[in-house]
Amino acid sequence: MKKSFLVFPIIAALLVGGCSPKTKTPDTSPTKTTSLPKIGVTIYKYDDNFMSFVRNSIQKAAAGKADVLMNDSQNDQAKQNDQVSTMISKGVKSLAINLVDPKAAQGIVDLAKAAKLPIVFFNKEPEAAVLKGYDKTWYVGTISSESGVLQGDMIAKLWKAHPEWDVNKDGTLSYVMIKGEPGHPDAEARTKYSVDTIVKAGIKVNKVVEDTAMWDTAKATDKMDAWISKYGTKIEVVITNNDGMALGAIASLEKAGYTGAKQIPVFGVDAIPDALSLIQSGKMAGTVLNDAVNQGKATLDLALNVANGKAPTEGTAWKLDENKAVRVPYLAITKDNVQVGLDAYK
Ligand code: GAL
Repeated sequence: MKKSFLVFPIIAALLVGGCSPKTKTPDTSPTKTTSLPKIGVTIYKYDDNFMSFVRNSIQKAAAGKADVLMNDSQNDQAKQNDQVSTMISKGVKSLAINLVDPKAAQGIVDLAKAAKLPIVFFNKEPEAAVLKGYDKTWYVGTISSESGVLQGDMIAKLWKAHPEWDVNKDGTLSYVMIKGEPGHPDAEARTKYSVDTIVKAGIKVNKVVEDTAMWDTAKATDKMDAWISKYGTKIEVVITNNDGMALGAIASLEKAGYTGAKQIPVFGVDAIPDALSLIQSGKMAGTVLNDAVNQGKATLDLALNVANGKAPTEGTAWKLDENKAVRVPYLAITKDNVQVGLDAYK
């Protein structure tokens, strides 16, 4: 009898534990004790579609290896600086920082340096001089220009294969550009290299209009709504710096009746699952895989190694370039190879 009283609560506890959601908010309470090294992580804002996949990947890679203190910097650099100070006082062994403002890296380095802590920046690339200035700093991300070149190359090929996209038959590709955060290395490089690559492929271009929607779906819908009523059929191609904004543009175009034979091709970057579904169903023309899973893994691998006093890439397949950066390659995705994008999330 006594035995069954003891067994029941144990089984109940196991059941409750086993059923808890996988996405449980990480426990960052100072009372938590663990033998795993503490790693302090910031995400510039949780409310960013692509970054949510990087965040999940970091959490997954850390399971059983590190105690991750995960912070939402809510797009506020002052808040992020405070979060870093708090994590340092909680005894983190390394920092993995997704800056709010790419130009604010030096401030974070100063905080870490005072505590002799190593930092891995990720996704928002700091200036090379900042990385050079502190021997315990590295970067995980991409070569920003690569995504622009791949996007431009994909647009040029499809434009040539689809003469009907040239609605007014003037032999010129008339586009609108929806840009990410101005000053962000990815946004600047994608905006420039996508169009440069189209021009290099021998295609005449006409920029109808360009503006930022700050990586954001709702802001992109608003921009596109305004542009459709102002420029209407003058728009032949929509180029966006990320899929979040591509989804926003597509929502606006559908609302305005640009479907079926009137559909306008929209291009993004990231290959987030929602965009891949639209590519599968023919509602989006193409994207570029920004490998969130591997960027998250590499960030955790480096941050864990340096937390344990090892060399950043020890025991991993990652390679550092001359700027102390691990660069995860991009890949162009259209309907033909959409499965590759889907597989990247498995
Ligand atoms: C880019 C990504 C965007 C956005 C941004 C945030 O690499 O393509 O969707 O997440 O990072 O810094």
